[in-house]
Amino acid sequence: MPDESNNEVARLRAELASRAAMSRDEAFAMPAGYYTSAAFLDVEIDAVLRRDWMCVGHVGELREPGAYFTTELVGEQLLVVRDLGGTVRVLSNVCRHRGNRVAEGSGTARKFICPYHTWSYDTTGALLAAPLMKRQKAFDPKNCGLPEFRSELWRGWVFVNLDGTALPLGPRLAGLDAVVKNYHPEDRYLVFVEEDFWACNWKALFENFMEGYHLSATHLETLHKITPTKLNKKMVSGEGWTGYHAYYDPDYPPRGPFHPDLTEDERINSPMFGVYPNLVVGMATNFTLFMCVRPDGPERVRIRWGVCGLEDAPESQAVRDYVDLCRAFNAEDKEKLEVLQTALKTKTYHGGPLAPDDYEGTIWDFIQYMASKIAR
Ligand code: FES
Ligand SMILES: [Fe+2]
Repeated sequence: MPDESNNEVARLRAELASRAAMSRDEAFAMPAGYYTSAAFLDVEIDAVLRRDWMCVGHVGELREPGAYFTTELVGEQLLVVRDLGGTVRVLSNVCRHRGNRVAEGSGTARKFICPYHTWSYDTTGALLAAPLMKRQKAFDPKNCGLPEFRSELWRGWVFVNLDGTALPLGPRLAGLDAVVKNYHPEDRYLVFVEEDFWACNWKALFENFMEGYHLSATHLETLHKITPTKLNKKMVSGEGWTGYHAYYDPDYPPRGPFHPDLTEDERINSPMFGVYPNLVVGMATNFTLFMCVRPDGPERVRIRWGVCGLEDAPESQAVRDYVDLCRAFNAEDKEKLEVLQTALKTKTYHGGPLAPDDYEGTIWDFIQYMASKIAR
């Protein structure tokens, strides 16, 4: 790595360390390199994205045994599958023969056949057959299964830990469980999913989704009339997550039907939360919107976003209207984030002061998380 990159990484590590030592009142956003540096992204991949739990999607894409989807995550090719016994697994999608991708896209299968030389695997990744290989001394079928990564399900989302060293995910989200349990996100049906790319750093998208400061200004025609900025209320965040309550404008019609477990207070706000480092969720009373984000280079983010509803009715008017609303405010966010990414290249940009806790405290929490992994 050239010296210049090393210097930049060292400077950004020190910036994170300085923020970890600051009080909340002194909070400043991070400088440009945090969102633009390729060398710093390499550090993030090693220290955070491979080491911690990354969300890759929703179990609604894996309803029946054999259902699968493939995806790329920080350089790994993944095959996410519900095996024929019903267990969700995250397998390597790299053939154990010479490395072709075993499966493409998504679908349902009883086995996977690599198209290069037709080695085949069952839905747990075990090798089933390898034509004409029997006489080779080097060939031991037991050693030729698809490697499996550690995975965990939380409230309907599928998480993977690529390096296998992370502590279990569930316990660190106990505080968040208490916030969302009455909304029963795990009982909601996935009714929409799509992939998208925005020209901004992956952390900028996490921060944008997680701060309510911009709701009234950026989303004047879409979200302001539902969840105006001034009604935001920060949650007390936990080790693995942050969030705030987006309270509904009292003049906006009730957002039912309501799950009977929801309290009066829970009926009038959406918990907005981020599970570090890459899942952000807006849990309205009637729909869940989520985004799994991942870097596609330092200045591009790949997004797998979806909507879950109380009923399994993807074609219903209510779902169409909600997806249209999401598309509208996503376009507003995308435009802002792509302008921000351009501003990072100017000489005048510096990370400015963050707004109070209810509005941008979640950004501060996320910086503290990154500092805990990377600061020096
Ligand atoms: S690379 Fe898959 S069978 Fe040869
Ligand atoms: Fe937004």
